[in-house]
Amino acid sequence: MVSSAWNLFCAGTETTSSTLRHSLLLMMKHPDVQERVQREIDEVVGQDRWPSIEDRQRLPYTDAVIHEVQRSMDLAPIAVPHKTMCDTEYNGYVIPKGNGLVPPLSSVRIDPKWWKNPDCFDLENFLNEEGQFKKNDAFVAFGMGKRVCLAEALARTELFLFFTSLLQHFTFKAMVPPEELDTTPTNSSFGRIPRTYECYAIPRI
Ligand code: HEM
Repeated sequence: MVSSAWNLFCAGTETTSSTLRHSLLLMMKHPDVQERVQREIDEVVGQDRWPSIEDRQRLPYTDAVIHEVQRSMDLAPIAVPHKTMCDTEYNGYVIPKGNGLVPPLSSVRIDPKWWKNPDCFDLENFLNEEGQFKKNDAFVAFGMGKRVCLAEALARTELFLFFTSLLQHFTFKAMVPPEELDTTPTNSSFGRIPRTYECYAIPRI
């Protein structure tokens, strides 16, 4: 019971809500990016209906923003504990069967081999020169392999629908100048989450 409750409240809600809070914070920090996301939503979805998941492919800039929000915030710096099921050799190291392992996902997130500016919020990480969405195999926000996040598809859908619907209807503005906003996530027992902030949600219509 305790384990299931933890899964529902932490894995199931804190993850997506913290990511959404961080995405709004970054939109306030980068008003030009927020404006461009809204322009894309206006052109593709308009104001007469809610965004649907089928719109994702037609919103490459918005999709790139969501990916870069996730990469740059590093919500889960380490994966859940794993265990080797047989003696395993990796990079010259022998890991015996039954050994506990905690994959450090952060190391991939900041590896300059994979990202142009790993420490910045940089949309070039997910956009090609034509402005199309560019997949990057080093995007491991949900982990990887057999034990990848059980709800990756659900979480991606939630993030896309909430983020696009919010920006379709509101412009988010900080109460302080954007330069003064601290977007560095803070470490909690759960993971890296955004700092508490207050903002204006200005209706767009
Ligand atoms: C932004 C949203 C989310 C992120 C970034 C995220 C990230 C992760 C990561 C990194 C792992 C560990 C994967 C590994 O060990 O390789 C994981 C596991 C897991 N996640 Fe998520 N998650 C998110 C949303 C959710 C949601 C919404 C649920 C449930 C409704 C969920 C349920 C789980 C469960 C049950 C596991 C454990 C899977 C296993 O042990 O095999 N996650 N998640």
